[in-house]
Amino acid sequence: MISPLAAPPALPRHVGVIMDGNGRWAQRRGRSRMTGHRMGAAAVRRVVREAATLGIEQLTLFAFSTENWGRPRMEVSFLMRLIRRFLRGECGELRRNGIRLRAIGRFDELPGEVRSELERTISLTRGGGGMTLCLALNYGGRAELTDACRELVREAAAGGIGADGITEERLAARLYQPEMPALDLIIRTGGEMRLSNFLLWQAAYSELWFTQLPWPDFAEEDFRRAVADFGSRMRRFGGAPPAALEVIRAGEIQSEEEP
Ligand code: FPP
Repeated sequence: MISPLAAPPALPRHVGVIMDGNGRWAQRRGRSRMTGHRMGAAAVRRVVREAATLGIEQLTLFAFSTENWGRPRMEVSFLMRLIRRFLRGECGELRRNGIRLRAIGRFDELPGEVRSELERTISLTRGGGGMTLCLALNYGGRAELTDACRELVREAAAGGIGADGITEERLAARLYQPEMPALDLIIRTGGEMRLSNFLLWQAAYSELWFTQLPWPDFAEEDFRRAVADFGSRMRRFGGAPPAALEVIRAGEIQSEEEP
């Protein structure tokens, strides 16, 4: 548990990325959206390498949301093939760098070939002692919370817990990756400033960093810029800023003071 008074950490333990802007990147160049996604996969390789080099503990990438099925069938199937190819092509590199692959989402709705490639890569990289790379695939924050609630209700129905037994800790323990480190920083590319159903529970105290850059243009130095900016943020987790606590210690605010 992080103390409200803790100094801002120099490095975020866990960074999440909403990789937006592939389509617009392509459109501006008169290229197909598929080209934008292909260039997006190249940006994924760059950022994974950079995050591991910096010593980030976990990098979670929003690769496909529960809402992305609403895209044209051809785009969805291209994205699925691209993700599968990425997994197959990067497995060796991940292993060489000790990067462990994880994934969160509703996997049973993914095409069988993607699921099997995912399972294979997760299993082959399991022993890695370095960064955890987590792919959010067919992931939605609301779906994750719904699934966690279903799990709790099943346990309640089986007589395991009652209403008072439903606590934040119990719900958190039923999320897709319960041991996930606290999500310190969310980066979103592509100019929009919203969470789009990404890690809703985990984002409660995340710092947010937005850039106009479309994802295919996002480079190593942009990732470093976001991480450096995180280091300058004052995180209070709902507590008071240190200066205010100094005032309280100095007795300038009396406990019996009327509001
Ligand atoms: C959003 O851009 C991006 C996606 C829905 C897919 C993200 C996928 C990748 C970055 C490539 C493949 C991933 C991996 C892990 C290899 P958009 O298409 O919504 O862009 P737009 O808002 O400009 O249309």
